[in-house]
Amino acid sequence: MDRHDEYALADRFNLNEWKRIYKYVIPYKKHVYMLLFAAVGTGIFDAIFPMMTRFAITNFIEAKTLNGIWLFVAAFLALALIQLYFNVIYTQHAIRIEMGVGRDMRYDLFSHVQELSLDYFNATPVGFILARIMSDTQSLGAIFSWQLSAFAWNLAYVLSAAVNMFILSPPLATAVLLTIPVVALLAGKFQKKLLVLNRIARKQNSVVTAGYNENINGAVTIKELDCRHRINGEFADINGEMRRKAFAAKRVEMIFFPCIMVVSSGALAFVLGMSPVMVNKGALDVASLAVFISYTFTLLDPIETITRTFSRIMGLQANVERVNSLLDAAPTVTDRADVVEKYGDIYNAKKENWEEIKGDIEFRDVSFKYPDSEKYVLENFNLKIKAGTCVAIVGATGAGKSTLVNLVCRFFEPTSGQILIDGVDYRERSYLWLQSNLSYVLQTPHLFSGTILDNIKYANPDATMEQVIDAAKQAQAHSFIEKLPEGYNTEVGQGGDKLSTGQKQLVSIARAILAKGKILVMDEATSSVDTQTEQMINGMTDQLLKDRTSFIIAHRLSTVKNADVIIVVDEGKIIEMGNHRQLLRAEGHYYRMYTGQWEEKRQDEFFRNLHNDK
Ligand SMILES: Nc1ncnc2c1ncn2[C@@H]1O[C@H](COP(=O)(O)OP(=O)(O)OP(=O)(O)O)[C@@H](O)[C@H]1O
Ligand SMILES: [Mg+2]
Repeated sequence: MDRHDEYALADRFNLNEWKRIYKYVIPYKKHVYMLLFAAVGTGIFDAIFPMMTRFAITNFIEAKTLNGIWLFVAAFLALALIQLYFNVIYTQHAIRIEMGVGRDMRYDLFSHVQELSLDYFNATPVGFILARIMSDTQSLGAIFSWQLSAFAWNLAYVLSAAVNMFILSPPLATAVLLTIPVVALLAGKFQKKLLVLNRIARKQNSVVTAGYNENINGAVTIKELDCRHRINGEFADINGEMRRKAFAAKRVEMIFFPCIMVVSSGALAFVLGMSPVMVNKGALDVASLAVFISYTFTLLDPIETITRTFSRIMGLQANVERVNSLLDAAPTVTDRADVVEKYGDIYNAKKENWEEIKGDIEFRDVSFKYPDSEKYVLENFNLKIKAGTCVAIVGATGAGKSTLVNLVCRFFEPTSGQILIDGVDYRERSYLWLQSNLSYVLQTPHLFSGTILDNIKYANPDATMEQVIDAAKQAQAHSFIEKLPEGYNTEVGQGGDKLSTGQKQLVSIARAILAKGKILVMDEATSSVDTQTEQMINGMTDQLLKDRTSFIIAHRLSTVKNADVIIVVDEGKIIEMGNHRQLLRAEGHYYRMYTGQWEEKRQDEFFRNLHNDK
């Protein structure tokens, strides 16, 4: 089974996996008992109604009297009321269990996911995690409530009906009940096939959705490249495939229900065919015959429900395993037990033991590969940075710049070698300690839904409004924020969607400034900001970089010119190192990159002037 395939089925039923999920039901045990009680009660009472009919036929119709009819009506009403009562209890408790189990599981999964390290997200599609948290918890909640009760209800009905039939006429009862295994077998087979086909259809459905998604998101590109015909053709193919697969599932259903009807009619025909003989022989009265006909009609539906519930449970085996696998995933970047002992954890940070950070950073013989890949991004990397230094990292796309800072932030740990902060391997200190001393603006800035103010204050919730505005001014974010209709209280939307990428970057920079970490990381922090704003930010950087060890990654070299050290990386190795002037003088890679960009800029200006002159 592919661990990440939403639609894969487990090979076999494994009770142990279910037992682990069962712990979520335990707090709702009382509700489960009540649910089962009401469901079984409903089943038994359902089976009593045909017997009431029999009573009426014998005692009123055949006896040609209405004596005691009011008592009968009262009993009938009482029965109906009890049924209603059972139904209310049943629904109430089912909802309680469904929602409760679902909520508890979702909460556990959510908080577990929060603790996982970045490498898990690297190797696991987000869709996989979301499906576990949202849809699996819902299906499992339903299993322990609605499915369980449907099972109990229908089973109770079938058993009670069987008992009643046996009381009335053992031979006829045997004949009718013999159809049960036939239907159960038939239904079981069909349900299994249906389950597989439905999953295939849903899988195709998600392919269609993904296709839609990609093409809508890529609408501009598609128009630009004028490849509409090809795209439409491709979409028609996957869409047609979806029709075919959905149809295959429907076809099985179309065959299944008539089959059940045939068996059911066969049983009924048998009862009807046998009955004159039996009635004539005095082995059966007409009233009992009515009961038999009623049971024969209504027995097959519950049996079908029971097998369907069964196959649903089987079908969820794979989901249970995947929920368990998510719960089993352990964070790889964690503090050792002795480190937690000394420095505490998220729940109880022993800040009194936290060392003051200076900001010296050293890469000692660091090799690193991403957890799901074979290729090393860094090999035996060495670098020593003194506290307060501003380091600029430049290099081609994919050179390993972001990887370097990911390691500094301990989003990932070195595969081998050490990263030392103030001379101590950072794994000897707590993760939280490092995070509380970091400020970063990442390559893809992320804002949380909420206001701009919330977002700037994220790492420093106690900051005053003055401090927030000051940070925003330094980040050149203040002027655009002021122009928004609600200023700092403007909602940014999910993931900051309502702001432009450049605006998001400015807000993230303000957040980093306010966080006041001793180590500052800016990964392409101003890549989407216009040149003028960028220059203004650069003008402020002196203040920003003061007393901080900082890493600045930028493609535009004008941004990095003032750094204390510029390192040029290529394929995970430092190929040049020095300050701007030294590197220009060396006339190596940096020189070529810089003069190349400068050339480009000059050409740009030249053409712009040409254009303006016209
Ligand atoms: N999350 C990841 N999982 C696996 N491999 C990765 C991951 N991120 C980066 N890589 C690989 O590591 C190498 C270095 O990537 P990195 O992101 O550090 O480059 P970069 O220098 O920051 O590039 P860019 O300038 O485009 O941001 C690349 O070959 C890339 O394919
Ligand atoms: Mg990068």
